[in-house]
Amino acid sequence: MKHLLSISDLSTKEIISILELAEKLKDEREKGILKEYLKNKNLAMIFELPSTRTRISFEIAMLELGGHALYLNWNDLQLGRGEPIKDTARVISRYVNAVMIRARKHSTIEEFAKYSSVPVINGLSDLEHPCQIIADLLTIKEKKGKLSEIKIAWIGDGNNVCNSLILASAKLGMKMEIACPAGYEPNENILKIGMNAGKVKLTRNPKEAVLNADVIYTDVWTSMGQERERDKRLRDFQGYQVNMELLSIAKDAIVMHCMPAHRGEEITDEVMESDRSVVFDQAENRLHAQKAILIHFLSGKYISNS
Ligand code: CP
Ligand code: NVA
Repeated sequence: MKHLLSISDLSTKEIISILELAEKLKDEREKGILKEYLKNKNLAMIFELPSTRTRISFEIAMLELGGHALYLNWNDLQLGRGEPIKDTARVISRYVNAVMIRARKHSTIEEFAKYSSVPVINGLSDLEHPCQIIADLLTIKEKKGKLSEIKIAWIGDGNNVCNSLILASAKLGMKMEIACPAGYEPNENILKIGMNAGKVKLTRNPKEAVLNADVIYTDVWTSMGQERERDKRLRDFQGYQVNMELLSIAKDAIVMHCMPAHRGEEITDEVMESDRSVVFDQAENRLHAQKAILIHFLSGKYISNS
């Protein structure tokens, strides 16, 4: 069974073909063409944490592809009363063609995938956010015309989004310079993969990271599930804000943020609203990327119960 738990689950060739499909679907939609590539297919979406973009883009993606998506809040399922994941996974996969899960712990999604007989897609965990990165690659390709040799400056927390972006950089030939405070580095194993591929550098200095950058990317200082650490994080991340001063160092760089953004913390309102910011195109691209991911995992050789 083929799952999408990590960017590592996709080959470079698969990522390229998903991006090409997303571009085609975006173009068709802009021309008012919607084809039912996933007619009568069902997607279960399980959320242990809140979501705006992931939830809505997956739901509309399934609808526009002729299929159906079910929103399932963790606490409304028997999971919330302690039904084991291994039972839930086997039951839900008897009803639907794929499952998307957003969970606090990556191990929860791994456990679900282990027992699922249909593809499982990671809709965000504490370790990775692979679907976000597919949309981001689509956005970078649109704005910069290529991916290979693009330099991304990551400013702030070496979190789930950063981890998936490192893995994508290693596969697609992008360079990443990550500026984060001590103690907030990306996952050690993932960082090693990026460094061994010769694509990732670490610094403590945001100004150094943004030199010659094509993309400046930031994300919240306090991710979902880390709310108790918020005060400490606010202190530790001082000096890591993406503001106009930092932008002036990298004159050609676009600014990306997976959103939701905390204006006044990791990014200023002025930067979010500036013409360098592509955050809303990036958010829109979640829809086109989700469609391509769903078609890739739900049709052809990956189809399991049709
Ligand atoms: N970027 C992202 O995943 O947003 P949501 O949390 O709103 O889904
Ligand atoms: N790093 C953020 C991403 C939200 C889409 C979080 O995990 O909360």
